[in-house]
Amino acid sequence: MLLDTHGRTATDLRVSLTDRCNLRCTYCMPEEGLAWLAKSTLLTDDEIVRLVALAVGELGVTEVRFTGGEPLLRPGLVSIVARCAELRPRPRLSLTTNGIGLERTAEALRAAGLDRVNVSLDTLSPETFERLTRRRRHADVLRGLAAARAAGLTPVKVNSVLLPGVNDGEAPELLAWALAEGYELRFIEQMPLDAQHGWQRGQMITAGEILAALERRFTLTPEGGRGAAPAERWLVDGGPGRVGVIASVTRPFCRACDRTRLTADGQVRNCLFARGESDLRGPLRAGASDAELAELWRRAMWGKKAGSGLDDPGFEQPQRPMSAIGG
Ligand code: GTP
Ligand code: 5AD
Ligand code: SF4
Repeated sequence: MLLDTHGRTATDLRVSLTDRCNLRCTYCMPEEGLAWLAKSTLLTDDEIVRLVALAVGELGVTEVRFTGGEPLLRPGLVSIVARCAELRPRPRLSLTTNGIGLERTAEALRAAGLDRVNVSLDTLSPETFERLTRRRRHADVLRGLAAARAAGLTPVKVNSVLLPGVNDGEAPELLAWALAEGYELRFIEQMPLDAQHGWQRGQMITAGEILAALERRFTLTPEGGRGAAPAERWLVDGGPGRVGVIASVTRPFCRACDRTRLTADGQVRNCLFARGESDLRGPLRAGASDAELAELWRRAMWGKKAGSGLDDPGFEQPQRPMSAIGG
């Protein structure tokens, strides 16, 4: 088990498969991209599967989510999913993607054993999409979403970050669209995880503002029973449609957090906002046994802080940006 000193148990593993991305969302990375991780430091497919097997077999992990950067850019993704689906006890397997290329891979991912996907889409306007992501790929994302739904990678969830003066007026429209399409929409408060370190609290659209905008058009009934999920959910107009809000800044869920993270270069992070990481790649490549790796992982999680520290006066953003941490 992956326990910490605040009484939490981590059962949900997020594995970043690459720090690269084919979009350049302004809240994530600069136009020119970032100094990508050197290939030699990336875990190989075999190393990833070994560590996931260890997490599932020895450490009590029951949910595995593949993230990036953009995980569809990882050539071995389908085979990694297939190998993880063969593990016993079988973990639940999901993917968080920007949706580009999902049109081509959704069926293969489903056949390999992927259970569901979350797709990022912040706007319904192709022009706003281009302004936000600096790429003209809006239609690819819509096709990727439809392919995921057709392949049964459900519930298909859509993640939207609202930015002031860019897409913050779109919340009700996005929700009406998601309800009509059968996707579960979640709005995400922007977090200080951008590579440019440009986040400002006053510049962020808050959960309260998002809910107020939605309530002008819809009746929202709190669903409750959120457990360890980051999203609070509401039934829309009596259901069955829902909307979620991930309010990591104004209503953090750290007390119930059940997450552990593995970066693409083999570091365990015990929190999205952790200041440090614990290296598994070095020991793994030096021949460490499963028992030794498991002990390193347990020790890494034991040191998890109570919260993100976002409200502490001396808060400092993590060194690594979102795209290298795995979201
Ligand atoms: P579901 O299991 O489908 O609800 O997925 P999820 O919401 O946990 O994952 P997803 O990858 O879709 O992430 C949605 C948002 O939640 C992203 O902005 C993540 O960065 C954020 N998020 C995920 N894990 C954490 C966490 O441990 N702490 C905080 N503060 N935010 C997180
Ligand atoms: N704050 C909040 N969410 C972010 N994402 C990327 N960067 C940030 C940020 N700084 C979102 C993406 C994607 C999910 C994995 O995280 O839009 O939906
Ligand atoms: Fe890529 Fe996701 Fe960052 Fe956008 S938020 S640039 S899709 S990693």
